Amino acid sequence: MDPIVNMYEKYGSELREVWDEMQPLYYKMGGPTRWQWNWYRVAHFALRKIANYPTVTRNRPATCDIELEILYMRLRETKPKMVIDLGCGVGWATVWILKALKMNDKGHCFSYDLIDPAIENIPMDLQRRWDFVQGCAEHSDYPPEIDYLHIDCEHTQSFAYWYTEELFPRVKGHVSIHDIFNRPEVHTGESDIIKAWLKGFKVDHFSPSPFYDAGFYLDIVKYRKALGLPNVHPDKDNMMVFFEMPKKESYTTPYNDPKKHVQLLKDVGEMLNESDKKEKVSK
Ligand SMILES: C[S@@+](CC[C@H](N)C(=O)[O-])C[C@H]1O[C@@H](n2cnc3c(N)ncnc32)[C@H](O)[C@@H]1O
Repeated sequence: MDPIVNMYEKYGSELREVWDEMQPLYYKMGGPTRWQWNWYRVAHFALRKIANYPTVTRNRPATCDIELEILYMRLRETKPKMVIDLGCGVGWATVWILKALKMNDKGHCFSYDLIDPAIENIPMDLQRRWDFVQGCAEHSDYPPEIDYLHIDCEHTQSFAYWYTEELFPRVKGHVSIHDIFNRPEVHTGESDIIKAWLKGFKVDHFSPSPFYDAGFYLDIVKYRKALGLPNVHPDKDNMMVFFEMPKKESYTTPYNDPKKHVQLLKDVGEMLNESDKKEKVSK
């Protein structure tokens, strides 16, 4: 908790000013009010129960307040040169990334997505440190070195295999990945793979998700309240995981070898598929 409290102490008043700028953008990007969000959740639940509909997707801001603030503060602290942002959607997390780069007066961000509403939504002054690449992230080009990798993209096992193999070795600094410490009923192939990867490599990590450590989450909530930070996005799940990429020499598991590493991830994937199948049969 301490490093997070220290960061909030250092950036608390700056965050209040950033929120003043960000709140109008949130609503411009279609961010729901609490009332709209409650209706959205009812519709989502009903569609899942009645029609076994897996998910309701809509282009709208999909990153929660606390995880955005932590993302912003980590970028302010680490001052990365090259930021890669997979799955920028409407651009909500991206504006926070770009605001941090602007405040640092340093760095450039490349965002990737199949869709392009972010181009319209992101203010011109923030676009000076930004390039957008439209298309499938898995089939795009990347720089050889990445200082900060932010991912909120395709939540599948195969996508996670791809980026752990192709992008992780290029990262020299920090990583954040959304939708990892989800509520128990929300299951994604990506989160299984990333949790296995973190465990396999014994990588220190944390998440502000209440499903990761409820006490830690509540402490942050209290701390934010004392600082007078607003509650904007009605979703409070904050499922993002944060970690610093360990140096290759510090990997202490037998999965050092990239081939064994990929095999580990595939084994975990197959194991989980098997248990999913068994679960379906028993229902
Ligand atoms: C949850 S949204 C991103 C939300 C956004 N980061 C925010 O803060 O609001 C996920 C995005 O990933 C994009 N996406 C999914 N699969 C993709 C792929 N294979 N390549 C590129 N983008 C992809 C979707 O188009 C969607 O915009």
